[in-house]
Amino acid sequence: MTMQRDTWDSKLGFIMAASGSAVGLGNLWKFPYITWENNGGAFVLVYLGAVVILGLPIMMGEIFVGRTAHLSGAPAYKKLGGKGWSKLGYLGAAAGGVILSYYMVIAGWSLYSFWQCLGWSFGGYETPSSDAFGTFLGNGWLQIGLTALFTLMNAAIVLRGVGRGIERATRVMMPILVVIMLYLVITAMFMPGRNEAFAMIFSADFGRMPAVGYLEAVGQAFFSLSLGLGAMVAYGSYMKKSDSITHSAIWVVSVDTLFALLACVAMFTIILSVPELKAQVTAGEVGTVGMLFITLPQLFYTQMPGGVVLAPLFFILVAFAALSSTLSLGEVVASIMIDRRGWHRKKAVMITGGIVFVGSIFAALSLGASDALSSVTFKNVPVLSTIFGTKTGILSLLDHLAANWLLPVGGLGTTLFVGWFLKNDFILRELGIKNSNVIFNLWIWCLRVVAPVAIVALIIAVATGKDFS
Ligand code: TRP
Repeated sequence: MTMQRDTWDSKLGFIMAASGSAVGLGNLWKFPYITWENNGGAFVLVYLGAVVILGLPIMMGEIFVGRTAHLSGAPAYKKLGGKGWSKLGYLGAAAGGVILSYYMVIAGWSLYSFWQCLGWSFGGYETPSSDAFGTFLGNGWLQIGLTALFTLMNAAIVLRGVGRGIERATRVMMPILVVIMLYLVITAMFMPGRNEAFAMIFSADFGRMPAVGYLEAVGQAFFSLSLGLGAMVAYGSYMKKSDSITHSAIWVVSVDTLFALLACVAMFTIILSVPELKAQVTAGEVGTVGMLFITLPQLFYTQMPGGVVLAPLFFILVAFAALSSTLSLGEVVASIMIDRRGWHRKKAVMITGGIVFVGSIFAALSLGASDALSSVTFKNVPVLSTIFGTKTGILSLLDHLAANWLLPVGGLGTTLFVGWFLKNDFILRELGIKNSNVIFNLWIWCLRVVAPVAIVALIIAVATGKDFS
């Protein structure tokens, strides 16, 4: 292995890098739009439940595996559990590749929005026509170009390894991101749609949530917390033994969840405050998928003091949030070739990056540029409709597959590995605890019983359920 096993400079270093991985498009882009699609409240509650019952214990489990093995991915599982368990690492790398191949496309939109905002800031804001975003999505070359640009940015950083680069960059970026998000939310609090937004997000009406919402909430918890494919194993492997796994995980989970909720509050308030926007979104004219890229610029330029400066800045930050997330995915994918084949990091990054990029071309063209790729769906095909849901288009199909299947299955593997395969004595010794305490027992029992039962029940329910509206 050529990767240097240095450690994070400080305990804060891990928290910053891991929150950088967790906070990303999942929070700013995906959480608001799937919450909207699932009619709010009840979905948010299920999501919060999944974060506490599944997310936190599994994150602690992944960090534990990495920190104990001092290795990432398949080699970590192999070292602690033997060859059979290393498959979990390979599954994770495959899931990472799938996620990257569409994540890069959406990340590319932030570069475009940045560019567009620069134009508005200097040339004056013009409300875009309601089909402007659709036209943008349907421009195949533009989509591929933006994806390529983002892929190169990511590769350039992963090439340098995960050491100090990530820690330093995220230490600067994360606080700024927090400040801008708070400013957004505070501004939103003075808008008329506030109460309606709160009602939609925080009052649960289970009757209005489609059944598939349960699966999506769990999938989103995995996705948003960067769990299920070994990203936290990789980051945990750089952690010092003296740093508390519990503390660090609680921090990352809290920061990530707060970001998701705040993004939702800001976005919903804006939509519900601007009548034309509300009409368009409710009627499905402006796809909810584009919320982050359509509704926010509108707020910046029409409602917000200082929006002219903040708008471009905000999209730089969206780009950085996405980048600090793709770094962890890129690292997981590349390190598998470094570890398994002994490839040099440069070769591994270039080849895996190239393969992922080819995959992402299909996703990039599935937004309107290619009819075939945009309209492919398996909703009427037995078995495949379970795996891919009722989604249409390559990008959405890949997202559904990765978030709702690959990540929960990967997470299930980790619960079985830490909860059942590893011996309690061994874990206690590694943690430097003499006798098990309440927190330890809660954690282990979550991993042993609660989390696996919940995930398996969910998988069975989805696999046999007919209720996919
Ligand atoms: N958590 C990131 C987001 O919310 C996406 C992500 C980064 C991820 N690394 C991951 C998802 C590892 C699953 C596994 O945008």
